[in-house]
Amino acid sequence: MKVVVTRKIPGSGIKMLQDAGYEVVVSPHDRPLERQELLNFIQGADGVLSMLTDKVDQEFINAAGANLKIVANYAVGTDNLDLPALLSRSIVVTNTPDVLTEAVAEHTFALIMAISRRVVEAHKLALTESAQFGPEVMLGMELKDKTLGVLGLGRIGSRVAEIGKSFGMNVIYYDVKQNPDFETKVGAVFKATPEELLSTSDVVSIHVPLLDSTRHLINAEHLKMMKSTAYLVNTSRGPVVDEAELVEALKNKVIAGSALDVGETEPKWAAGMVDLENVILTPHIASATIEARSAMGELAAKNIIAVLSGQPPLTPVKV
Ligand code: DGY
Repeated sequence: MKVVVTRKIPGSGIKMLQDAGYEVVVSPHDRPLERQELLNFIQGADGVLSMLTDKVDQEFINAAGANLKIVANYAVGTDNLDLPALLSRSIVVTNTPDVLTEAVAEHTFALIMAISRRVVEAHKLALTESAQFGPEVMLGMELKDKTLGVLGLGRIGSRVAEIGKSFGMNVIYYDVKQNPDFETKVGAVFKATPEELLSTSDVVSIHVPLLDSTRHLINAEHLKMMKSTAYLVNTSRGPVVDEAELVEALKNKVIAGSALDVGETEPKWAAGMVDLENVILTPHIASATIEARSAMGELAAKNIIAVLSGQPPLTPVKV
């Protein structure tokens, strides 16, 4: 059986697939495959280990052909997959939950700390010869006793909330589902609407999946509801935020700053974003630790091996 891996991955995932006896074909390129390259590359595959940069739709399914039994997405997010099309063809779909929770939550906190203490601005200043101690140089905001608003209390949002608590922050959250057990365990407070959360948070951290209902969940109107001293951090999916409207809000100091790991049209940022001082940008690296990225590959490999040997997948995605 043939397993196609659309980009080289760290860890032992590829070896696991080879040891299982499959013909394993790994993309030779250190970049996402162009569309036509991808469609040619997956032809005749029984299993595909796909990246979040691969659009897995009807055209992809047709190009892969009748043997395709599993698409193991190397991500917890599934917005690059046309799930109805895949599942209507009985193709098993899997993702990589849990193994990247810590990495993404830690990166979220790296961004929260970096933006609230102006680490990137200060780094640039330190490179100039005029930089030295001054009582008012690079004043930032302390996190202790501030309010962290977690939008979306899934695995990653929950972990970010816990870390926030350990920093002495007051944690509030909004989710479509209230979680009283989590509230008791962590001391987080539920807000009934995103608006309530936005208007009372000092840091808003976004952890919702990209769905029709979450696209542009944060727009100009919502940004205006935030405190002018607040920061917006996004490590979920770019299109959850209207990026052009965020640029305007940052330019006009509607909010104090923003740190983004994800963009609306990666790898490009909205016009004007890269010229802003009150923004920190990272290129979708929140899960980029050796530990998480290796474990993601290994979990994807285990899913492929299970399905191609007639067993149920470990982490199936359902519609
Ligand atoms: C995911 O898994 O969805 C992250 O965005 C990338 O690791």
